[in-house]
Amino acid sequence: MPGHPVDTLGRPMRDLRVSVTDRCNFRCRYCMPREVFGADYPFLPRSELLTFEEITRLAGIFAGLGVRKVRLTGGEPLLRHDLDRLVAMLAAVPGIEDLTMTTNGALLARHAAALAAAGLHRVTVSLDSLDDATFSAGNDSPVPVAQVLEGIEAAAAAGLTPVKINVVVRRGVNEGEVAALAGRFKGSGHIVRYIEYMDVGHSNGWRLEHVVPAAEVLAAVNAEMPLEALPANYPGEVARRFRYRDGSGEIGVVASVTRPFCGDCTRARLSADGKLFTCLFATSGHDLRALVRGEATDADIAAALTAVWQARADRYSEIRSADTLGLPKVEMSYIGG
Ligand code: GTP
Ligand code: 5AD
Ligand code: SF4
Ligand code: SF4
Repeated sequence: MPGHPVDTLGRPMRDLRVSVTDRCNFRCRYCMPREVFGADYPFLPRSELLTFEEITRLAGIFAGLGVRKVRLTGGEPLLRHDLDRLVAMLAAVPGIEDLTMTTNGALLARHAAALAAAGLHRVTVSLDSLDDATFSAGNDSPVPVAQVLEGIEAAAAAGLTPVKINVVVRRGVNEGEVAALAGRFKGSGHIVRYIEYMDVGHSNGWRLEHVVPAAEVLAAVNAEMPLEALPANYPGEVARRFRYRDGSGEIGVVASVTRPFCGDCTRARLSADGKLFTCLFATSGHDLRALVRGEATDADIAAALTAVWQARADRYSEIRSADTLGLPKVEMSYIGG
């Protein structure tokens, strides 16, 4: 029986984020700008994607090493055909206690019921603005806000709750909408989470001036709808939680720039083509696809994962500097949010 490895900073492996495709139907300016991700961008060919069977086998091995939570991401995970089949396979893996997905919501209304029936527990939907013009300018797509809102309601109706709504806040873009977004979902049971804009990848032209600090976001919401802090749901939770004093729900902030949380980062990431990344800001990954497509037994793969994890020293957000900003980091659409 394999043990549960810890890395060089004593952090166990608890979460696995699986990117099921590097494609997306949106072109968010800060993630997949169309100048870079255009018609001739070399997305991964199908043969290079891990199959559902390969993903499920790896998830089982990760679970044996301590992983309890699996999050499906992309790109846009709902672009992967028959995703509910993968969900059903992962839901049957012993040890996986939390099975969730991060989506842009455009296709969610269509898929929510089948995903829930297959065993998905909950979803997180990205939504940066309630204004169609700002929303479309931000993601370079014609999808109206109403379509994402329908997806959110379909998810809630299917029991994929609590639905979390991720808002990346950017200076001069949607900072003025912070309180309105909170107000829109206050009392709905959905949890809005404001994310500080991060320097992921190298094609989004990130600058520190574009970041709206979480403290500022909290002050904006608190001024209209008074808040109080809540304890974390579990050790290493990325978002800090706050509840409305009137009892009508909660919000969260993910302050990865102004208040990094590498100290208890327990996340491993698996790219769509089967590379293991031990940090969102990594410059390279470890090829697991060669192992699953070769002769390696589950025990061999577990040993390889253990060796990678035991050597892990990543703490990028804590050491972010002029030097690290220039590194050729992998794109978020490839590695998964
Ligand atoms: P819950 O399970 O609902 O608590 O969610 P989660 O924290 O896994 O949520 P989610 O995947 O929605 O993460 C929220 C956002 O935080 C992501 O979209 C990223 O922008 C950011 N984030 C998540 N994990 C990391 C991480 O390991 N490092 C950094 N720097 N940012 C992260
Ligand atoms: N900084 C912060 N969040 C980001 N996301 C994508 N790129 C960035 C970035 N540079 C968010 C998306 C989505 C999640 C997967 O990550 O909006 O909510
Ligand atoms: Fe697509 Fe999400 Fe990236 Fe936007 S942030 S381009 S929705 S993967
Ligand atoms: Fe984890 Fe890397 Fe994010 Fe730090 S920067 S929290 S080590 S993924």
